[in-house]
Amino acid sequence: MTRPLKPSSRRPAFVHLICAAIVFSLIVFAIQSFFFTGTRTKTLNAEDVQILSGFQADVQQCVANRGFGLTAQIIDHCKLVLKFPEGTNSTWLNPQFKTYEPLEYKYDVCEAILLWEQYRNMTTVLTREYLDARPDGWMDYAAKRIAQLGAKDCSNRTLCEELLNPMLPAKPPFHPRQFEKCAVVGNSGDLLKTEFGEEIDSHDAVIRDNEAPVNEKYAKHVGLKRDFRLGVRGTARNMVSILNGSDDEVLVIKSVTHRDFNKMIDMIPNPVYLFQGIVLRRGAKGTGMKSVELALSMCDIVDIYGFTVDPGYTEWTRYFSEPRKGHNPLQGRAYYQLLECLGVIRIHSPMRAKREQDWSDVPSREKIGRAHAAATRLKRSEESEFGEEGQFGNCKVWGNAGAYGSGPVSGSRDMSSKRRNSNYSKWEVMPFKSLRREAQEHYMQMEGVSLYKMDGNKLDDLVCVRHPLESES
Ligand SMILES: *[C@@H]1O[C@H](CO)[C@@H](O)[C@H](O)[C@H]1NC(C)=O
Ligand SMILES: *[C@@H]1O[C@H](CO)[C@@H](O)[C@H](O)[C@H]1NC(C)=O
Ligand SMILES: *[C@@H]1O[C@H](CO)[C@@H](O)[C@H](O)[C@H]1NC(C)=O
Ligand SMILES: *[C@@H]1O[C@H](CO)[C@@H](O)[C@H](O)[C@H]1NC(C)=O
Ligand SMILES: *[C@@H]1O[C@H](CO)[C@@H](O)[C@H](O)[C@H]1NC(C)=O
Repeated sequence: MTRPLKPSSRRPAFVHLICAAIVFSLIVFAIQSFFFTGTRTKTLNAEDVQILSGFQADVQQCVANRGFGLTAQIIDHCKLVLKFPEGTNSTWLNPQFKTYEPLEYKYDVCEAILLWEQYRNMTTVLTREYLDARPDGWMDYAAKRIAQLGAKDCSNRTLCEELLNPMLPAKPPFHPRQFEKCAVVGNSGDLLKTEFGEEIDSHDAVIRDNEAPVNEKYAKHVGLKRDFRLGVRGTARNMVSILNGSDDEVLVIKSVTHRDFNKMIDMIPNPVYLFQGIVLRRGAKGTGMKSVELALSMCDIVDIYGFTVDPGYTEWTRYFSEPRKGHNPLQGRAYYQLLECLGVIRIHSPMRAKREQDWSDVPSREKIGRAHAAATRLKRSEESEFGEEGQFGNCKVWGNAGAYGSGPVSGSRDMSSKRRNSNYSKWEVMPFKSLRREAQEHYMQMEGVSLYKMDGNKLDDLVCVRHPLESES
């Protein structure tokens, strides 16, 4: 009778022992990790945290000086909140959630610097070398950039090449630091309140959006210079008349191409490319951001005109047509103001038209460089898998390509005579020696490596393609 009790009376003691052991090791582990992370954060980042906190203070001052009532509230060395003044009338109603736009926007300045400074080193045009470098480049990725392909992938590569060839350069046709000053011209109706035309035309390159007309009627407001135009796929139908008048304004298609686009391309002499870059998941949405990305990938200084970014607007208008609805002005305004105070863009608008060109309250390139370095180190210490040190730390995929300016020029064999005489070659076989000195220096510093975003993938993952340097130096 007593025997059967024995094991059952012993088991609880055994279980207790195991539990005690588990609890003890958990406590030891907790203490260990507490001290480990504690010392790690302290020793690694004290100086970087100080640099970034100083930078936050500069950004706060900049927003106070330039934000028309916007204020920045610092949360920590990375995070801050931009607040609209109390009583700001938020009239934009989100029809889905039945809410008005909030008056506060939280940002991670460290991430924003990393993201936007990275664009200065990026290639934002889709190339053949990019598709070759990606393991899934031709089969899956290429198929994603073609609408109405009629197949789930590019297993018939001839078909995909046919559709992509007219807009697929062998190598990057444009280069980081290629231009000193660029103007990005939005379509806002506020352009009609100023006469920025001459100022816009004085830039080394001018980037415009979709169907924005450039002609004598609007010249004093938006200028006449035509270098780049970003278009969504829907504009293909009108592009022949939109591009009329300039045989070398470069068209960069933002989203996907399709058969209609190729028909259109066949009728115009202008170079056409596909934009290469990830869908921006943070910050302000909209077409304007892609233009800023394209500009930053080629230009040192980016001046924006015709983006409705300053207070006082109750509806969104275009300088050449009737008002449209459906924009969220406060979110955009806050983000553009942040970008100006991070030294990414310079805002020009009617409310600033009479101000002197004084950018002294925007943090200097030197300060931004130091903050960028600190943000990079901080990120590396937080994420052990954040790649290795150095400028190629984010390169997840490597490829090799021929020398600068070599390889076939965009186009296809059956192009019309108009296209055969097109100005693709003006960019694609430009001799290295005729590039701007800063662009040459950057190329050498980057050891001939072009960086591309890994579209649709993690923000930090890059595709990096190496070009031989001998032919240049
Ligand atoms: C906010 O703006 C709307 C439309 O412009 C206007 O009808 C409304 O009266 C305004 N509200 C306040 C409190 O100013
Ligand atoms: C692949 O596409 C090309 C071009 O459209 C076509 O001529 C060819 O027949 C296709 N091949 C196959 C196997 O479907
Ligand atoms: C281009 O513009 C010229 C005059 O500016 C006009 O004669 C011509 O018809 C236009 N072509 C197209 C395709 O719109
Ligand atoms: C290319 O553009 C230039 C102006 O930049 C123009 O003079 C020339 O006719 C265009 N076409 C070709 C084939 O170079
Ligand atoms: C960008 O390029 C410069 C050289 O012009 C280099 O020093 C820097 O490390 C690069 N930064 C990134 C994030 O690639």
